[in-house]
Amino acid sequence: MSVIVHKVNDNVHLLRSIDANRKLFDELIPLPDGTSYNAYLIKGSEKTALIDTTYPPKIEFLTNRLKELGVDKLDYIISNHAEQDHSGAIPKLLEIYPEAKIVTNAKCKALIMEFLLVSDDKFIVVGDRETLSLGDKTLEFILAPWVHWPDTMFTYLKEDKILFSCDFLGSHLAIDDLFITDEDNVYKAAKRYYAEIMMPFRAHIKKHLEKIDTLEVDLIMPSHGPSYQNPDFILNAYKDWASDNVKNEVVIAYVSMYESTRMMVDYLSQILTSNKITVKTFDLIKTDIGELAMDIVDAATIVIASPTVLTGAHPVAANATYLVNALRPKTKFASIIGSFGWGGNMVEQLKGMLGNLKVELIEPVMIKGQPKEADFALLDSLAKEIINKHENSMLIKA
Ligand code: FEO
Repeated sequence: MSVIVHKVNDNVHLLRSIDANRKLFDELIPLPDGTSYNAYLIKGSEKTALIDTTYPPKIEFLTNRLKELGVDKLDYIISNHAEQDHSGAIPKLLEIYPEAKIVTNAKCKALIMEFLLVSDDKFIVVGDRETLSLGDKTLEFILAPWVHWPDTMFTYLKEDKILFSCDFLGSHLAIDDLFITDEDNVYKAAKRYYAEIMMPFRAHIKKHLEKIDTLEVDLIMPSHGPSYQNPDFILNAYKDWASDNVKNEVVIAYVSMYESTRMMVDYLSQILTSNKITVKTFDLIKTDIGELAMDIVDAATIVIASPTVLTGAHPVAANATYLVNALRPKTKFASIIGSFGWGGNMVEQLKGMLGNLKVELIEPVMIKGQPKEADFALLDSLAKEIINKHENSMLIKA
C-alpha cells in the first residue's frame, strides 16, 4: 500500500494510491491488475484545491503525502464523484483541513451527505460549466451524469488544458507511471473498465465524448490508472466502443455438466470459424467475467449455452445471462443452445432474462442428451442463420 507523487507541472501534482492486491471492485468486478486511485493537488496563486481523494484504506497514506508536500491549508476538495474510492477520505480531510469546502454538483453532494455523513454547510454546489478561481488557475466543472452513477462530473483546468475525467477514460491498473508506457495494456484495461460499468450507459457516454470534443485538451488525467498525453488514443477507443458498430464476432458463454453442451458449443464454433467469423468461447465455470464483458462490447452475436439442471438453466448460465442483460451491449443477435435429460423451461427462463437487449433472437436449439445426427443438423441451421445475419448486416471485420 502506498501513495506515489508525480509532479505534473509547477501547479499540479498527482497523488496516486496504489492498490496492487485488490482483487474485486464493488465485490463483483475482477481486478486482475489491481487498481489505483488518483487525487490531484492544484496550487493556484491564491487557493489550493484537491481533486478527488482516495479509497478509505488509503487515507493515512494520502494525508501523509499532503503533509510532505507542505499542504497546511486546503481551500477546496473537488469531488468529481461520490463513490468512495474517490470520496472516501473526505471526512478525514475535513478533520485535518477544517477550513476546506467540498465543491461538487447537487447530486454528488446529496450522495456524499448520505454515504459519508458530511454536513450541509461544508459544500459549495456548482452547476454545469461553472468555474472556480484559484487565483492564476481556473477550474471549470462539466457535469457528466451516468458515467455509471448520476453524480459524476469532470473538472477542466483551463490554463493548462488538463481534463480530470474521474472514472471516465480510466483503467484499473496498479501502475506507478504518470503517463502510459504500454498502450496495449492500457487499451485492454480501459476496455474492460468501460465494459463493466459504462457500457450500459452508452448513450450518455457518446454525449460526454461530444462535450470533450468541444474542449482543447492537452492531457487527460483520470481517477484510475495512468494519464494520457495523447488524448485521441483513449477518446477514439471510447468512440469505437460506444458507436453502433459491431464486429463479425460471436461470443459463446457456456457451462456443461456431462459434455453434451460442450460438444454443441465445439461444433457450432467450428462451423462459424470456418466461415470466417471470430468466435470467443467462455467456460463460465472458469472465466473471468471481466473478459466476457470486454468481448461483448462489440460482438454481433451472443450465444448462451447451458444444460438443464433442477428444471431450468444452470445457475452459472443464469448468472452470466443476468450480467449480459445488465451490461446492455450493442449486440444485434442472440441465441440459446443446450441439452436436457427429461424436460425443463430453460429457454423461456433465459429469454425472459434478456429483456434489456435490443437483439433479434435466433431460434434456440435444445436437444435431448448427447447430440446426434439430427441435433448437429439443427446446429448447422443455427450456424447458417448466424452467418447470413452477419453477412446481411453492416459488420466491421473482427
Ligand atoms: Fe472509481 Fe465510480 O468509482
